[in-house]
Amino acid sequence: MARRRVVFGASSITVELFGAILRLVPEGGTILELGSGRVSPLWVDCGLRCVSIEHDEEWCGLFPGVEYRHVPITGTWYDRAGFREAVQGVQYDLLLVDGPPGQRGAPTSRLGLLDELDRLDRTKPVAIDDVERPAEARLAEEVRSWLGSRASISLRRGRRHHSVVLLPS
Ligand SMILES: C[S@@+](CC[C@H](N)C(=O)[O-])C[C@H]1O[C@@H](n2cnc3c(N)ncnc32)[C@H](O)[C@@H]1O
Repeated sequence: MARRRVVFGASSITVELFGAILRLVPEGGTILELGSGRVSPLWVDCGLRCVSIEHDEEWCGLFPGVEYRHVPITGTWYDRAGFREAVQGVQYDLLLVDGPPGQRGAPTSRLGLLDELDRLDRTKPVAIDDVERPAEARLAEEVRSWLGSRASISLRRGRRHHSVVLLPS
């Protein structure tokens, strides 16, 4: 079992986003997470179900209670068939987009989510991390329009870490 050391806001989401999500998801609810990490088991600790889509086998199965679904990367996004199979039938209360890695120079891009919107639930909030980056900012705008969202929660940590939770209309 991996050591339970959480560093909010480094490779993980910030504590501010963590708190905002906890306030939105009903007790015993489900988070569908793209990109697993050290925060994943905390959802479970808080009594939530966490279905975690993860491309890197080394990050799968690390923490008991997290429902890992390993989906490798094909091109710049999760393997499409694998992604669809992994999310099929998951009744979630909030989608957290924090993968695949999207930092500068990474061969992956979270914009692949735009081709999967018809597999997702338009009535549930979508949290997107790292919207200080142009690709994630664009993703957030496209998802905002798909959700018909007129309200959102913007969370900043310092000058660099920015996330947003888009609320369905
Ligand atoms: C931004 S991280 C996801 C972090 C996760 N949502 C969290 O808040 O703990 C994106 C990807 O980087 C990898 N990863 C996760 N935690 C990491 C860490 N602490 N250091 C390096 N890579 C990490 C995993 O492959 C994950 O899919």
